[in-house]
Amino acid sequence: MQSRRARLDRFISSRMGISRRDVRQLLIQGRIAVDNCIACEMHHPIGQFSRVTLNDEVLQADTALYVMLNKPAGVVSATRDAQHQTVLDLLNRKDKGNLHIVGRLDFNSTGLVLLTNDGAWSRRLTSPEHKVAKNYLVTLKKPITPDYAQAFAEGMYFPYEDIQTQPAQLHINSQFTAEVILTEGRYHQIKRMFGRFQNPVLGLHRTKIGCIHLDPTLAPGESRDLTETEIACSQASNSVN
Ligand code: URA
Repeated sequence: MQSRRARLDRFISSRMGISRRDVRQLLIQGRIAVDNCIACEMHHPIGQFSRVTLNDEVLQADTALYVMLNKPAGVVSATRDAQHQTVLDLLNRKDKGNLHIVGRLDFNSTGLVLLTNDGAWSRRLTSPEHKVAKNYLVTLKKPITPDYAQAFAEGMYFPYEDIQTQPAQLHINSQFTAEVILTEGRYHQIKRMFGRFQNPVLGLHRTKIGCIHLDPTLAPGESRDLTETEIACSQASNSVN
């Protein structure tokens, strides 16, 4: 699997165990193709999902996979676990061993989980500097008061990590329910934020990551591939929120 910045000459040289001078000869002879076009440049950039052939023999041809799952409660956001069912156990597809999880949900949290084999895509959706919004519906044990919203917007100091959380939005839906929008994913972040008000979280359901909404037709435990539109919008740098 190649990083986004791999160069064709380095890739062929390391894959075939030949010098870069030999790679140049192969390029001059038109024997190397990238994505079905004859390549001529040593520096031709190749990505994880570029199709690379030498003499029509495929050296790399991974397909990008993008999957959404409606996670039920009582399932671990991990690819394997000795004790509990994992989100991967819920998928019924041959290629599931190639997938990794894009931002975990706690054991009892429910809703949207994305899985992929595209590391660059998952890094962009999860890394705090990209500030991709994640929406959660939260059910609380005690009534929510209007002062919560300001505390969430100001951010909270988490001494364990020695960080101030990014500004978060809290919209009160009813006495015991709210929508929270985070742009990062610290450990148990929402539970810890409501914990500052001694208000335990009873239910936490993720509805959206960036532009991707949880498909309301997916029952808990069900999954589907993302549509072309969902993939395109999540890849567009200005439309992830
Ligand atoms: N915050 C939490 O506390 N738990 C989750 O599962 C997600 C966000």
